[in-house]
Amino acid sequence: MLMPVNKVLTNDWRFILRVAVFSTHNYDRNFLSRANTVLNGGHDLQFFEAKLNEHSAALATGHDAICAFVNDQLGREVLEILAANGIRLIALRSAGFNHVDLEAARDLELAVARVPAYSPEAIAEHTVALILSLNRKTHKAYARVREGNFALEGLLGFDLYGRTIGIIGTGKIGLSVARIMCGFGCRIIAFDPQRTVELKELGGSYCDMQALLASSDIISLHCPLTPATHHLIDAEAIDQMKPGVMLINTSRGAVVDATALIAGLKAGKLGHVGLDVYEEEGDLFFENLSDKMIQDDVFARLLTFPNVLITAHQGFFTREAMSAIAETTIDNISSYERTGSASYPVSIERLA
Ligand code: NAI
Repeated sequence: MLMPVNKVLTNDWRFILRVAVFSTHNYDRNFLSRANTVLNGGHDLQFFEAKLNEHSAALATGHDAICAFVNDQLGREVLEILAANGIRLIALRSAGFNHVDLEAARDLELAVARVPAYSPEAIAEHTVALILSLNRKTHKAYARVREGNFALEGLLGFDLYGRTIGIIGTGKIGLSVARIMCGFGCRIIAFDPQRTVELKELGGSYCDMQALLASSDIISLHCPLTPATHHLIDAEAIDQMKPGVMLINTSRGAVVDATALIAGLKAGKLGHVGLDVYEEEGDLFFENLSDKMIQDDVFARLLTFPNVLITAHQGFFTREAMSAIAETTIDNISSYERTGSASYPVSIERLA
């Protein structure tokens, strides 16, 4: 079992870990610092605004652990730099770990920890916010009314009651979405290789992917990004959907082929698209780029459609979720410090 190398001995004879925290904004610093105090973690957190990549990885020198978020790069090259600089633990502030090369982590004897669940309701409620906004166009109505335009043309929506919602991935978030949409009187169908009785208890039913694509009025994606789900929604899948379907993606950008999305929108096949994630979001999201030119032509094209609503990966961004992420992250670090194993480890062996 590997123990951290750069330990600092405190007055109460505990070891604290020196943690380099990447991709931080004020809100990350506030929530993590508070959790470190509340949980008596006592860890030495050093916050960096920089995203973690091969250029910034050296900032971690002199630390025992790094803490990373969804758009930090944790491929083999970066992990090699971290390991060479004495890092032993990678504490992810996310549930998803698709951005970590777990094979490289194993080879380099780097422990990886994540936050498996922090408030599935936060992401589920944001998913429903996208559905409601796209349908009833509240974002457009808000702007119109402020300008004294009280016309209703272009704001026509549809009743959610009685509509069929297709949920791809009925884990924690997918089930939470199913629960909320049941309240609207929707029919819930789902596809997931791992079926759960909870969906049936809600009155939902499982079907195969083809049936889900063909019969859903709204399709919502809640599966992780894996080799099997990469571009799960491509031109062929869109072809099988109902004309005018609403597609919502709050899972991971690369589950959807954005170029196929544009073709589907241009052809009028997709009636509404709501995205909280985008395959190439790493260069865009979480930063204020309002005075810069967007260089990503696919993203820029998506922004031009009147029936597309994009938010910048904010599904998780509630007080409850941020507190839970920070507390589990500190707990992972403390557990690693005490026992050599994080509370919620993730490794290639565990996935096998
Ligand atoms: P979870 O692990 O509880 O559920 C994922 C479900 O997807 C599982 O039931 C699994 O069997 C299923 N699945 C796996 N492969 C599939 C496939 N090929 N087709 C259909 N279903 C498949 O995960 P949870 O907590 O519900 O999160 C889901 C995803 O949401 C995460 O992996 C992450 O990518 C994303 N997420 C997005 C956030 C945001 O802020 N927008 C925040 C947190 C998570």
